[in-house]
Amino acid sequence: MTRKILVTSALPYANGSIHLGHLVEYIQTDIWVRFQKMRGNTCHYVCADDTHGTPIMLRAEKEGITPEQLIARVWQEHYDDFAAFHVQFDNYGSTNSNETKESAQGIYRTLKANGLIEVRSIEQYYDPVKNMFLPDRFIKGECPKCHAKDQYGDNCEVCGAAYAPTDLINPFSAVSGAKPELRNSDHYFFKLSADTCQAFLRQWTRGGALQPEAANKMQEWLGAEGENKLTDWDISRDAPYFGFEIPDAPGKYFYVWLDAPVGYMGSFKQLCAKTGLDFSDYWKQGSDAELYHFIGKDILYFHALFWPAMLQHAGFRTPTKLFAHGFLTVNGEKMSKSRGTFITARSYVDHIKNTEYLRYYYAAKLNGTMEDIDLNLEDFVAKVNSDLIGKYINIASRCAGFISKKFEGKLADIHADKLISEPLQIDSGFYKLKPEVVAEVADAYEKRDFSKALREIMAFADSANQFVDRHKPWVIAKETGKETELHQVCTLALNMFRQLSILLQPVLPELAKNVESFLNAPRFTWEDVLTTLPAAHTINEYKHLATRLDPKLIEAMVAANQESLKPMTDSHSETRHAEHQQHAIAPIAETIGIDDFMKIDLRVAHIVNAEHVEGAEKLLKLTLDIGEENPRTVFAGIKSAYDPEKLKGRMTVMVANLAPRKMKFGMSEGMVLAASGETPGLFVLSPDDGAQPGMRIK
Ligand code: MSP
Ligand code: ZN
Repeated sequence: MTRKILVTSALPYANGSIHLGHLVEYIQTDIWVRFQKMRGNTCHYVCADDTHGTPIMLRAEKEGITPEQLIARVWQEHYDDFAAFHVQFDNYGSTNSNETKESAQGIYRTLKANGLIEVRSIEQYYDPVKNMFLPDRFIKGECPKCHAKDQYGDNCEVCGAAYAPTDLINPFSAVSGAKPELRNSDHYFFKLSADTCQAFLRQWTRGGALQPEAANKMQEWLGAEGENKLTDWDISRDAPYFGFEIPDAPGKYFYVWLDAPVGYMGSFKQLCAKTGLDFSDYWKQGSDAELYHFIGKDILYFHALFWPAMLQHAGFRTPTKLFAHGFLTVNGEKMSKSRGTFITARSYVDHIKNTEYLRYYYAAKLNGTMEDIDLNLEDFVAKVNSDLIGKYINIASRCAGFISKKFEGKLADIHADKLISEPLQIDSGFYKLKPEVVAEVADAYEKRDFSKALREIMAFADSANQFVDRHKPWVIAKETGKETELHQVCTLALNMFRQLSILLQPVLPELAKNVESFLNAPRFTWEDVLTTLPAAHTINEYKHLATRLDPKLIEAMVAANQESLKPMTDSHSETRHAEHQQHAIAPIAETIGIDDFMKIDLRVAHIVNAEHVEGAEKLLKLTLDIGEENPRTVFAGIKSAYDPEKLKGRMTVMVANLAPRKMKFGMSEGMVLAASGETPGLFVLSPDDGAQPGMRIK
């Protein structure tokens, strides 16, 4: 029974380059799709560039081109990057297409007819110089909570507080620098709070479409039964906006996230037009096709709430499953331009060339959960060289030469009763790839537990190597009368190599193709894996299939990506920095009396623990002992300056009577003191030697 499967990856934004973080997703999806195709299932993989929204509009303007020109250029770049990593889409489209437009407008019309669209006037910041409403991310100002300067309109990167742009102190437009004005405008809302949406989502999110971690998150978002936590979703933006106009609403455009997932449909429609597939066969309610969206955990909200609710109420089928993955870290930390670990796909290709190394490494790390995955660059080199080259490629490179040199490229007859010596007869059974193992590998691929699949495959590579080591073709090649044995040993080993190549094909498609031509074999299918090449089959001469990864290439790549080594750019923060060079220190604050000062209870604190906070750009989580029964937890915006390991065990100073504050990542029970100025750097205070935790500072 062949399955009908439609697979998508999230649509990358058309305002940036593809980087190694993105590639986690596209490589993961591509491996899964290739596996399905190899199994004989009907599987289509579509994607597109996500082209709409304010950032793209503004960027095009800055470059002096039209948004259409910008997205056309980026589309080509993305397309080439994916091709370089062997990510093989059946269609790669753009959300800025007629197909997506028609679908988005159609869905909107049905939602409206079903009473799920509402118009409401909202008050919002407007840039009077630029003549446009400002998205939260384009308003900056002082954090209302911690007074950090230059924070975005939605949340503070220093203290983690979330707020509305109207809460910012001294707001300014990040586009023009102007002081924004509050203005009213009509916005269109999708009524997610409607009973029908709530009820549907409650049932859908429990229906097995989500991974357990995602289902838990959803329960949080939906709240308890009857709690009605979902609010309506603002789906419109005012002109000027690069996007699709809302039908019968002049000057109003669909918010980019409304038409982005519809881009999945749009891209599939293009595929249908190319191949004659039936669109509605895959998208109608009750369709027997499977629909899977691979996404990062950061966009779960859009895919697990808005999207299924839209589909359901517009008369379409909903996704069979969402496959969310975690985020990529490099060497244990968030990708960073200053460390040179914000690596673009292009830069990887330029320096390392072989993109299957990365596919192999990611596969070895991916297990189908939402856990983050780490690209440890040292481990990357080690794994590629020891496993991929040392275990797998090595089998062919040690045996192939004898076949071409001594046997005119012809394979031996390795039928069990034709095997000559005792040990070879026993060994050929002992080292044989077992059907149970193949089934386990298939099961692991299906469950996206690629790390397990690779462990099983590499275990078989180990036994193939043991087989070669035991029979030492390079030794028997020099002995007389051992020709048949040599012939059979090498043939058996090459068959094992072929089996490994078939099992690895979803991960290493290019290599597999080269193995097919080296072995002069037809296109591998999954069924081939338990067969052997026939006796006297002629193979081609062995040419290098892959070489060791030289760690120097990695060093060069990291160095090339290190932003501080590049000539100064005119980025916002650097200009700002230059502006502030004139005055040496910030003005001294208003005078206070000693009573005011004494209100602040400063204590010596022992940093018992310090750690990174998942998803926080600037924060470290500190555990502080100030002599109380239980240590305090404090989130401090010092990540840029301190390695948590180095803070552990240190003494510092904290404000012990600051009201506890609920932050995005938990409760913060105080504040540690650090010095900072206009020049870079952040310096945590320490008391002199001898100070004990809990001592008061006055
Ligand atoms: N345009 C939206 C998706 C719309 S889907 C209808 C978007 N684009 S994105 O370019 O920011 O990200 C594309 C995909 O790459 C997302 O699934 C995102 O989670 C993933 N990743 C982006 N950076 C990532 C890492 N550093 N690590 C792993 N995946 C990451 O979101
Ligand atoms: Zn703040």
